[in-house]
Amino acid sequence: MRNSSFLLVLILSILHLSSQPSSATHDTLSRGDSLSIDNPDDILISKSGVFSAGFYPVGKNAYCFAIWFSHPPCSGQNCTVVWVANRDEPINGRYSKLSLKKNGNLVLTDASQAVVWATESDPLSCSKTLFFQLQLLDSGNLVLRDRECNVPLWQSFHYPTDVLLPGQKLTRNTTLVSSRSNGNFFSGYYKLYFDNDNVLRLLFDGPLYSSVYWPDPAHVSWEVGRTTYNDSRVAVLDSLGSFTSSDDLKFLTSDFGQKTQRMLKADHDGNIRVYSREKDGKWAVTWQGLSESCTVHGICGPKSVCSYSPSEGRSCSCPPGYVWSNDTDWTQGCAPRFESFCNKGAHAHVDFLRLPHHDYYGYDRAYIQNTTLAWCKEKCADLCDCKGFQYKFNGNRGSFDCYPKIRLQNGYFSFSFNGSIYLKLPKANLSSYQRPTKGSNSLSCPPKVQEVFLKRTYLESHMNSTLSILFTVAMVLAGVEIVVVFLTWSFLIGTDPDKLGGYAKGYHLAGTGFTRFTYAELKKATENFSKQIGRGSGGIVYKGVLSDHGEAAVKLLNEANQGEDEFLAEVRTIGNLNHINLITMWGYCVEGRHRLLVYEFMNHGSLAENLSSDQLDWKKRYEIAVGSAKGLAYLHEECLEWVLHCDVKPQNILLNSDYQPKVADFGLSKLLNRDSFKNTSFSRIRGTRGYMAPEWVYNMPITFKVDVYSYGIVLLEMLTGGNPVASHAIDGEVKGGNKRLTTWVREKMKPGVAMETWIREIMDPTVKGPYDIKKMEVLVAVALQCVEEDRDARPTMSQVVEMLLRHESENL
Ligand SMILES: *[C@@H]1O[C@H](CO)[C@@H](O)[C@H](O)[C@H]1NC(C)=O
Ligand SMILES: *[C@@H]1O[C@H](CO)[C@@H](O)[C@H](O)[C@H]1NC(C)=O
Ligand SMILES: *[C@@H]1O[C@H](CO)[C@@H](O)[C@H](O)[C@H]1NC(C)=O
Ligand SMILES: *[C@@H]1O[C@H](CO)[C@@H](O)[C@H](O)[C@H]1NC(C)=O
Ligand SMILES: *[C@@H]1O[C@H](CO)[C@@H](O)[C@H](O)[C@H]1NC(C)=O
Ligand SMILES: *[C@@H]1O[C@H](CO)[C@@H](O)[C@H](O)[C@H]1NC(C)=O
Ligand SMILES: *[C@@H]1O[C@H](CO)[C@@H](O)[C@H](O)[C@H]1NC(C)=O
Ligand SMILES: *[C@@H]1O[C@H](CO)[C@@H](O)[C@H](O)[C@H]1NC(C)=O
Ligand SMILES: *[C@@H]1O[C@H](CO)[C@@H](O)[C@H](O)[C@H]1NC(C)=O
Ligand SMILES: *[C@@H]1O[C@H](CO)[C@@H](O)[C@H](O)[C@H]1NC(C)=O
Ligand SMILES: *[C@@H]1O[C@H](CO)[C@@H](O)[C@H](O)[C@H]1NC(C)=O
Repeated sequence: MRNSSFLLVLILSILHLSSQPSSATHDTLSRGDSLSIDNPDDILISKSGVFSAGFYPVGKNAYCFAIWFSHPPCSGQNCTVVWVANRDEPINGRYSKLSLKKNGNLVLTDASQAVVWATESDPLSCSKTLFFQLQLLDSGNLVLRDRECNVPLWQSFHYPTDVLLPGQKLTRNTTLVSSRSNGNFFSGYYKLYFDNDNVLRLLFDGPLYSSVYWPDPAHVSWEVGRTTYNDSRVAVLDSLGSFTSSDDLKFLTSDFGQKTQRMLKADHDGNIRVYSREKDGKWAVTWQGLSESCTVHGICGPKSVCSYSPSEGRSCSCPPGYVWSNDTDWTQGCAPRFESFCNKGAHAHVDFLRLPHHDYYGYDRAYIQNTTLAWCKEKCADLCDCKGFQYKFNGNRGSFDCYPKIRLQNGYFSFSFNGSIYLKLPKANLSSYQRPTKGSNSLSCPPKVQEVFLKRTYLESHMNSTLSILFTVAMVLAGVEIVVVFLTWSFLIGTDPDKLGGYAKGYHLAGTGFTRFTYAELKKATENFSKQIGRGSGGIVYKGVLSDHGEAAVKLLNEANQGEDEFLAEVRTIGNLNHINLITMWGYCVEGRHRLLVYEFMNHGSLAENLSSDQLDWKKRYEIAVGSAKGLAYLHEECLEWVLHCDVKPQNILLNSDYQPKVADFGLSKLLNRDSFKNTSFSRIRGTRGYMAPEWVYNMPITFKVDVYSYGIVLLEMLTGGNPVASHAIDGEVKGGNKRLTTWVREKMKPGVAMETWIREIMDPTVKGPYDIKKMEVLVAVALQCVEEDRDARPTMSQVVEMLLRHESENL
């Protein structure tokens, strides 16, 4: 049955296609036809125009057969490529061809007619008539089908490059391999794959060593929510933005909902991200696997340490007592400035230097639990090949653990890592070694983008001497051009391109484009801090105009008692957060005691101002409810750092010109490690009266549920117009105070009262215009659930988003 109906559909579609003039069938290639690199029009375009397949330039006179997003239109080298046939063997810009041979094999040949890539598909195994064709589908899948065969003979979805499109499955047989660097499509060293124990992992598979770094290898699979017991090994991202993997990894992207273009990509920096195309044609990151870019392995060479700062991106440096093995190539790592200890064999000569918040992952000689620092030092001094040890507090056991290291690999520095490395150094010189200083001692990474050139030599045999002279001249000109373009670009950008983390300019991403301003610059921009536009617990916000960004909001933090390092660490956290419903930070300033943050300017002010002016209709209020929930959900979960806001209120929800809400002031939030979840170090009361959860008052542990509570109060305020802070009377009834506001709403919806009735009674009477009663019911239900006294009864922010959106999709 299924087979025959499938055949029918196929035959009908083929008849349909063949009845049209051939020029209209741009998405297919028929038996015996070919696409030639010499003809720029030889491109397959899917029916909707979203995808194109053809020859894509990857370097000077170097091309790959690729599939890319072609809507909105792109050209030259600015397209987003999703699949590449011959990534490690580019072909020549002349005489190369992709041919669909009469025997069913799809073959890519280059100028010398050598076969560079082939599908080795064999329709004869299921078909006698050999009626097959190649088609580029709207899903981005390039499919070779024979009308007599049930399964496609070949499809690009089964051979992914570094991108997984919605509906494309990652299986036991497939691996995403990152590209080498931005703009270089050669296979890189980072892989996303299903491991032998059925867990989806990220692996650094470098030339000298390899190492798994995601999920966090310091935890066993079930601790990070993965299972090893489902051996189906399949993972897929759907078009709504929900990712499911057979190892129980599940997530929703921060913009969950209907979107036309999405992709999951194994990026060249070692992270995996989901991107969604926004209205302006740019790609926004809507999920990422790792929140700290230095926890990726293989970034710096042996013994070298990776550190990240928003202004400089990732960089590598050598620890004290070590120097670069090769001053120009950081991948070669660092070498000791002292002689090996093994020959000396004496305790008396060694000592240890503590590097707080540093780690070298792996290569532990032993694991010693519940030990003392003295014992650990003794152990490492005794071991000839011990280079140092990690010493870390184990919160579960309440004691310290020691890990002597035989190699110093995968080094990184992060304020959120709560452990130390004790480096083994000669006692005599210990005092002369300083903490690593930035500057000449640190080289930025990743390495410079290298231009791709064809390595093969067949060109000479194929070309006559006239052509080869022309070719040489062209190459020289091209080289000069590259250098000029590179210099101009570096100059225009004003920073080292590597500091952009290597992201294409179309991607606006966490930590990029971050500027360190001087105090004088900001003073000038804000006209001596004259136009105050807001005041929060953290400081005062002024309006300013920056020469390169235009209007900005500059927050002058109150007398900062944090040190510079600590402040930079917090800025780094905030800079890492990138979501359409979070305010974007453009930069910061640290100078003496001045601490300033520079944000994008929101020209519609805050939700508070607009609520009091009664200008927001119900549709806008609903959208603000959904948007701010998404922003908070991202803060809590999507970026894996568990950032609490702690001061959710209408003053901190800003509106852009489309009334899209953006949550602001999450600078107050304190970074929480997951381990410290049950036991937090919050001591001071934060937040604003009226929006504060009962946990603050009863001195109970503070979790992300405090934000859920405050969000619930904001919803009630938006719905009813009641003010949770000050009591005041509306229609002769008191709607003030957060307790009174919730009890008042609960009382209105007594059993027996029709829904239409109580909704009409609680709704803000000053808002005119129609409303969707279903939406109102959902909003009230969600709000009341959020303000439960018992924090376990409150939903999480992503559950809130789901509840709000589920209702929307039911109504479609
Ligand atoms: C790509 O380049 C073309 C022309 O060079 C331009 O029109 C288009 O906007 C660019 N697209 C992106 C996404 O940068
Ligand atoms: C994986 O490959 C094996 C052997 O090549 C094949 O039998 C199997 O069907 C493939 N599995 C999937 C899910 O593609
Ligand atoms: C294994 O994972 C697949 C895909 O996510 C799912 O359909 C299947 O039900 C799972 N099997 C078990 C036993 O959980
Ligand atoms: C440093 O590395 C570069 C690039 O790998 C190499 O050309 C150079 O010879 C090396 N220098 C030394 C002193 O080893
Ligand atoms: C750690 O060791 C000390 C002394 O040896 C012992 O008293 C203590 O109970 C140990 N703690 C744990 C958690 O094993
Ligand atoms: C961090 O480590 C110190 C000891 O070095 C320990 O006292 C403290 O509780 C740890 N904090 C967290 C959040 O794990
Ligand atoms: C280490 O100390 C020894 C003895 O004090 C001295 O001779 C040597 O120059 C020092 N080495 C370095 C790199 O400072
Ligand atoms: C080389 O190629 C050019 C252009 O194709 C042609 O005019 C010329 O005669 C060729 N020379 C030789 C020696 O084949
Ligand atoms: C800012 O203050 C300085 C003196 O402190 C003054 O010279 C300058 O004119 C002021 N600028 C503006 C725009 O008010
Ligand atoms: C929202 O508030 C801002 C700032 O007060 C104001 O400029 C804007 O006009 C208000 N919008 C409406 C619709 O009232
Ligand atoms: C929280 O952790 C600290 C050590 O990090 C411990 O001393 C304290 O007793 C813990 N508090 C609670 C409530 O568990």
